[in-house]
Amino acid sequence: MKISSRVESLPPYLFVEVSRRVSRKKAQGEKIIDFGIGDPDIPTPPHIIERLREECLNPQNHRYPETSGLLKFRRAISDWYFRRFGVSLNPEKEVLPLLGSKEGIGHLSFCFIDPGDIALIPDPGYPVYAGSTLLCGGKSFPLPLREENGFLPLLEEIPLPVASRAKLLWLNYPNNPTGASADMDFFERVVSFARRHDLVVCHDAAYTEVYFDNYRPPSLMQVTGAKEVGVEFHSLSKTYNMTGWRVGMAVGNPEIIDALFRFKSNLDSGVPQAIQYAAIEALSGPQDSIVQHNLIYQKRRDKLVYALNEVGLEAKSPSASFYVWAKVPSPFLSGEFAHRLLNDVGVVVTPGRGYGQYGEGYIRLSLTIPDEELDEGINRIRMWHS
Ligand SMILES: Cc1ncc(COP(=O)(O)O)c(C=O)c1O
Repeated sequence: MKISSRVESLPPYLFVEVSRRVSRKKAQGEKIIDFGIGDPDIPTPPHIIERLREECLNPQNHRYPETSGLLKFRRAISDWYFRRFGVSLNPEKEVLPLLGSKEGIGHLSFCFIDPGDIALIPDPGYPVYAGSTLLCGGKSFPLPLREENGFLPLLEEIPLPVASRAKLLWLNYPNNPTGASADMDFFERVVSFARRHDLVVCHDAAYTEVYFDNYRPPSLMQVTGAKEVGVEFHSLSKTYNMTGWRVGMAVGNPEIIDALFRFKSNLDSGVPQAIQYAAIEALSGPQDSIVQHNLIYQKRRDKLVYALNEVGLEAKSPSASFYVWAKVPSPFLSGEFAHRLLNDVGVVVTPGRGYGQYGEGYIRLSLTIPDEELDEGINRIRMWHS
């Protein structure tokens, strides 16, 4: 049997490695405190589950869905976008439901990247941008996200021959893993850069609804002309604690949406209908759970950021996303530091190097951990450090 060189060339998916190590430890009876994966610990709000339960009982929802999704669902997405961002979307042409945004992000590369093509990819960044580029035979050109630039890429640093050859520009704000946010001024510069270089902009906006204090993250689609150059990926995963239901959406440029639809229709049969109805309920029903959950994350953020700085793991307080990006004390490398924390005190953090070369020197801690475990994790880090 010969596995394709595409698959052989893939590095192991970051979290698969981490969860294997954690499972080994757990099997040995150790109580592990897991600041690793960003997967909300709080359940999906009850009204959404209730709608899902009802729709599961309807035999019409037991059949194949359409790849394009129910028009009702696409309308609920465009209405939500209008209420939240003031952005108008045509539900017939500018909205496509996804089996979670990861699926759409991965498949979008196949719509634009031919072998040898370049994708501009934030580094550190969510691993799917680089992974899917590799699967298409493309080349990732890393855009360093540096602290001194607020973890925004410097577009003017991209060499001209690279910018003019590149097909895709990936962005993600609020950002995983750095917790950084982008403002409208940055998005405006992105749109004019994309126009100049004929680039497709893919903005991954999975975390716009996890925000703190008085901050409200913007959408790329709020920029005039954004729809001419790009799409935005969104997800119900983090907004409504629905990671397990696998539902998200791509919105924006109709040609890009159509390309993704054509690709997907050859591979999948759409989001199960009962889940589409649950998603309609989530987007159109009461939104107070978002506020409640963000208050929980905010308290955790404040506690964790304070404790990390106290022990010398310098960390800024993110204004959105549920990630804290902390500096690793020298002379440690991030992998070694994460390994030591797990081995010595049973605390899982994600090494920044796993998100790219410019992630070295940092670790990521997720706030999706129950309060008592967060406290226990903080105690263990304090103990380990003293
Ligand atoms: C930046 C980013 N984008 C997209 C996703 C995928 O989310 P989902 O596929 O659950 O919508 C994640 C998940 O962690 C993420 O961190």
